[in-house]
Amino acid sequence: SDVCSSDLTGNIKAQDILLTGLEKLEYRGYDSAGIAYFKENGKISIRKTAGKVKDLRAICDDNDATCGIGHTRWATHGGVTNANAHPHKSGSVSLIHNGIIENYHELATTYELEDRLISETDTEVAAALFDKFYDGKNPIEAIKEVIPLLKGSFAFCIMFENRPGVIYAVRNVSPMVAATSKEGSFIASDLTAFIEYSKRYFIVPEYAILTMEADKIDLQDLNGNTIEPEFLEVDWDMTAAQKEGYPTFMLKEINEQPAAINRTIMPRIKDGLPSFEEDGIPDSFFADCSDITIVACGTAMYAGMVGKTLMQDILGIPVTVAIASEFRYERPVITDKSVVIVVSQSGETIDTLEALRLAKTKTNKTLSIVNVKGSSIARESNYVLYTHAGPEIAVASTKAYTVQAAAFYLLTCKLALVQNAMSEADARAFISNLENVSDNIAEVLKLSDKVEQLTKRMLNASHTFFIGRGSDYTLSMEGALKLKEISYIHAEAYAAGELKHGTIALISEGVPVIALATQSHVYNKVISNIREVKARGAYVILLSMDEKITDATICDTHISLPKVPEQFAVFEAVVILQMIAYFTSTGKGLNADQPRNLAKSVTVE
Ligand code: M6R
Repeated sequence: SDVCSSDLTGNIKAQDILLTGLEKLEYRGYDSAGIAYFKENGKISIRKTAGKVKDLRAICDDNDATCGIGHTRWATHGGVTNANAHPHKSGSVSLIHNGIIENYHELATTYELEDRLISETDTEVAAALFDKFYDGKNPIEAIKEVIPLLKGSFAFCIMFENRPGVIYAVRNVSPMVAATSKEGSFIASDLTAFIEYSKRYFIVPEYAILTMEADKIDLQDLNGNTIEPEFLEVDWDMTAAQKEGYPTFMLKEINEQPAAINRTIMPRIKDGLPSFEEDGIPDSFFADCSDITIVACGTAMYAGMVGKTLMQDILGIPVTVAIASEFRYERPVITDKSVVIVVSQSGETIDTLEALRLAKTKTNKTLSIVNVKGSSIARESNYVLYTHAGPEIAVASTKAYTVQAAAFYLLTCKLALVQNAMSEADARAFISNLENVSDNIAEVLKLSDKVEQLTKRMLNASHTFFIGRGSDYTLSMEGALKLKEISYIHAEAYAAGELKHGTIALISEGVPVIALATQSHVYNKVISNIREVKARGAYVILLSMDEKITDATICDTHISLPKVPEQFAVFEAVVILQMIAYFTSTGKGLNADQPRNLAKSVTVE
């Protein structure tokens, strides 16, 4: 299960704070919700349901409780049912959980818990185990005994009956942040849940046991030693996480891209050249590098592919892109001269985090490109390059992709300079082109009406294809992912030259094909491939930097992108692809911000 918890143990009413906190985390994606709170007699009341927080609100009565826990679940073990929703109660224990207890089955058998279970979840086994070890007097002792038995990832918030006003918490891998303010104490999987109460917070250290009361949070390790939390301060507030007049977060974030790119690149351009001095990355990091492996998931991985194409082209060294969830289970060839770049908007994607941990066993040249400050991946990599895009709320990643790509452009230029693969004059010209990217994107955003219009042709499609060559192929993958995740239309990305080896059999009358042709060295080749699908009845939407294409044997609709040096075309082309996905989704009447089955931050394997 995946948790978004927001807990308060305080002097003001908890229920509304919990429900509002859960609403703030709705963007992360979930399928059930629940809360638990202490009643006046020290007993615990639970309300939970499959569905949305508004459904949970509907079954909650007004109450005066000042201490409670809340959760939204993204199903992993067991279907989307009321019984599987959190909190889970077993005897004196009520808890919520983010993560997966991998050995839950074994634990249930070994400790004979089966008869006590009413749900299909791994979480309930943990609740039953805590209760089994609880002597009715000392919750911390029970936690200390249970934690070493658990395999997997977890962030638990636990309430013990007859201990009103106290919440216990402990985590391994799964994220958890906490704060105390004049309104009470808070703990959540994401700061957004309580940022309006406190901008000063701390990341809960792994395996620290927290005891949270209205006015204080105590931390101790599994041996009982006191731990001092390290406080951090956020530099954004809820206004950055609001729609500001846009109908959706996704549209807002698409439009924020020019500003976001500037925030990523400008502080790192000194005297017309890239500089990572303020990030604390020494030149030796760039000099002594034999090969590069980029590891990430989803859109972050596709941004990595943009990086790979550019780096390999300019640096002439091997660059590999690995799917984080595969990387861990392969035998990655990494030496102490290899640079490993992990890319993650949230900095909490567990596959990427675990891949980073593996990479660190082989090289200490790990660098992360991360948006969320202080996140696990940022903290654990040897070096971090923050993208400063501001909070990304829509599940479908947009601005995070362009800033990650921009970070790769800066890094490539720096590597090329240090490795003498680029002259200083060429580097200055490269950086000046990068500085123009935000204006170019602003131009492309003006095409939104045209893009919305052309998506009308896509609304009834069951299958679509995205094709291109070289960097246009990597863009195709991102375009296809974006369309799939928010419009639920099957979309496949194909290297245009590969179509004829099988996939072209799927092209039939009217099937939309989004074709990209921004790269001159393969332009004629890709146009031939486009003609091949057109000849078989495809409805072709072509993106290129040509001013006009009127040849009906090539395309049905042409989007003319502003003319830029072709290495920089990815930025403007991807914005069109984002808009195609967005307007197809909204045109179908779907919720583009919160697509079904998806979570914003995937903290389970
Ligand atoms: O937070 P991360 O960048 O690590 O997330 C990686 C992927 O889960 C994410 O990019 C996902 O593919 C998005 N839904 C894409 O829009």
